[in-house]
Amino acid sequence: MIRPAELIERKRNGEELAGGEIAELILGYARGEIPDYQLAAFCMAVYFKGMTSAETYALTDAMIASGRTLDLGAALGRKVVDKHSTGGVGDKTTIAVGPIVAACGVPVGKMSGRGLGHTGGTLDKLESIPGFSVDLSVDRFIAQVKEIGLAIIGQTEDLVPADKQLYGLRDVTATVDILPLIASSIMSKKIAGGADAIVLDVKVGDGAFMKTLEDAHALAQTMLELGRHASREVVCLLTDMDQPLGAAVGNALEIAEARDTVRGEGPPDFTELVLDACSRLLALSDLGIDVEEGRRRAEAAVADGSALAVYERWIRAQGGDPDPGALPRAAVMRELRAPIGGYIARLGAIDVGHAALHLGAGRRAKGDEIDHSVGVICRAKRGALVAEDDVLAEVHARTEEEARWGVAEVLAAYEIGDLPPPERPVLLDVIA
Ligand code: URA
Repeated sequence: MIRPAELIERKRNGEELAGGEIAELILGYARGEIPDYQLAAFCMAVYFKGMTSAETYALTDAMIASGRTLDLGAALGRKVVDKHSTGGVGDKTTIAVGPIVAACGVPVGKMSGRGLGHTGGTLDKLESIPGFSVDLSVDRFIAQVKEIGLAIIGQTEDLVPADKQLYGLRDVTATVDILPLIASSIMSKKIAGGADAIVLDVKVGDGAFMKTLEDAHALAQTMLELGRHASREVVCLLTDMDQPLGAAVGNALEIAEARDTVRGEGPPDFTELVLDACSRLLALSDLGIDVEEGRRRAEAAVADGSALAVYERWIRAQGGDPDPGALPRAAVMRELRAPIGGYIARLGAIDVGHAALHLGAGRRAKGDEIDHSVGVICRAKRGALVAEDDVLAEVHARTEEEARWGVAEVLAAYEIGDLPPPERPVLLDVIA
């Protein structure tokens, strides 16, 4: 029987803990036998002292063992591929990738999360579609993946329950941005969800948990090791989160943009990331093709309308109306105009994320109601050349007053300079 206070002290002093000790701590916490305050102190000790690979494996295994696991591969009789993003601003990638990959003949059954703070969650975005339900039973989820090739639902209560508890605790104890804790949180959910091969989109920049390329590399490397340890194939894309992804930030606005992208009319940076993620998922699948062929097939599915057809079937199957005209619209729209001419030197992702949050698009605390209609559309992105009074962004708000505040906040996200900023592509690196 472990003594949690002793484990906290040993971790605080930089000692390596045994796998069995970590398992007892996490499973005891999941059963409610170890209180929040001891786990919070443990997480803070990990912040200062880190974890060895063996400790991180043990933590991930314990998280998986805290609940049930799903064998989606056996249910579908196919190799299962999955994707996951570490979270960012304007990140609606899953909503566009799912239909394209499914249209290429690879089934996608995904459990997604909600947003907290300035990062949005796929479930919240999907719920802006009138009638759409993210609460399907596991049986219906599997049946829909078989029938349509695509289903996206909320994570079931019994899949990695330790992560649910621990993430909530980390969120209020300044212990979210800790590499081994992020890696084990993400990988435990992917492994328990039954993915054989996983594409991880590791966001890098001011709107992401990982602010530098160096930190993102380290996170990617840890997740690759956790995948290998569990005999899963993992590819990590390191992608830009110094500016919002695409143009739209806000739930219904992002759904419209994801749909535009599925029909080949999305913003260039978002389209590039979506097609890259699709081609890597297809290359990892049981189709037996390489990344170049995956890219060709993904582009073809967009061009010939088959991806849009899957999108519409999928939204209808989950009770939603796929017509973009049915999406909720904010009462007020105000344009933000350039105070001077020049190049957009910076468009801070975190600032735009906060503006959308304050407009009502996100939650400040768990359980907060969100407004699906509000948000920001960034018409001018980093590197664009604008003239004085050109439209930089649109602010979609509930009231005139909130729109005024939103315009001021989004204006603070922009820096306009005389020279074009250094190029920073959306795809910064690939690690496999
Ligand atoms: N996403 C997760 O699922 N877990 C983390 O800890 C951070 C981002």
